[in-house]
Amino acid sequence: MPATRPGTKGAVISGWGTALPEKVLSNHELAEMMDTSDEWIVTRTGIRERRIGGSTVGLACEAARQALEMAGLDPTRVDAVVLATTTPDQQWGNAAAVQHELGMRCGAFDVNAACTGFMYGLVTAHGLISMGADRVVVIGSETLSRIVDWDDRGTAPLFGDGAGAVVLESVAGAGQLLAWDLDADGSALPILHADVAGHIKMEGKEVFRRAVRIMVDSAEKSMRHAGITADQIALIVPHQANIRIIDAACERLGIPMDRAAVVLDRTGNTSSASIPLALADALDNGRIHNGDLVLLVGFGGGMTAGSCVLRWGGGLDG
Ligand code: ACO
Repeated sequence: MPATRPGTKGAVISGWGTALPEKVLSNHELAEMMDTSDEWIVTRTGIRERRIGGSTVGLACEAARQALEMAGLDPTRVDAVVLATTTPDQQWGNAAAVQHELGMRCGAFDVNAACTGFMYGLVTAHGLISMGADRVVVIGSETLSRIVDWDDRGTAPLFGDGAGAVVLESVAGAGQLLAWDLDADGSALPILHADVAGHIKMEGKEVFRRAVRIMVDSAEKSMRHAGITADQIALIVPHQANIRIIDAACERLGIPMDRAAVVLDRTGNTSSASIPLALADALDNGRIHNGDLVLLVGFGGGMTAGSCVLRWGGGLDG
């Protein structure tokens, strides 16, 4: 899908929240379970530890509850819940379970676009708002530890569990979204896939190579359609798969690494949850200010990619 300008009714992110399981699994602990080392994992990926445990719906509820509280929004006023996940607790109805648990009375649906799921969910939520919805909760939540092959040292160290959520509310003006892009290349499905009820299978080097390209392509489309250049980006919030992928993508885009949000050292790759976790971390640490241009960009199995440019701020009109 080509990068496209947003609809006529704008939206802003008015609240955010995160959830991480209590159990920390460090690289050192992993090295006791399999033939690997902290040094190998940190050098190749940047990951030092990840969180393990919980359920996808449980983590999603925790993150969404925080986001609603920050937005000061009663759950009964939410118009839709979008839950991005590749690790649903059940085949369907995971967003509906969150809706019920938090006391919302609205539409609820699951989105699966692998690690790009949150970007697909966020763009879809903007679409719902441009068509008349006023308050949409977008969540990325994963329990990847359930589908990792713990006997495969090539994939097991990479992934972790967690959730991030945002509340998106309509505004009278243009809102935060300047441009977006959603992309996919189904010919690359075999290099990163998981059979139903199976484990994650990955050709690491090939995924690495294509990930950088597909992320950069998507980010460039969004920036072009927003009418901006990379030097104007205050913060890039990339999918958190591997620090070397982020580094290579930033270099090609011409964005210095000190303008990248990074949480993967603490979380590993949390797929759909990684972008909202990194965004929330940046916001909580005061790294985003009103007026800043923020580039969110993800890639994942499929292969899929997605990005958007937000101009932070733009307040609610009440
Ligand atoms: N510990 C120690 N050694 C290991 C480990 C490990 N955990 N895993 C692999 N090795 C060994 C291999 O067996 C190989 O040994 P050999 O040379 O004797 O054959 C050696 O290390 C090098 O292995 P490579 O696979 O070539 O290592 P590479 O530098 O490519 O790094 C990695 C592997 C980290 C997986 C990298 O390719 C990568 O990050 N790829 C992209 C992963 C990714 O982003 N996936 C997306 C996830 S899913 C998603 O986000 C949708």
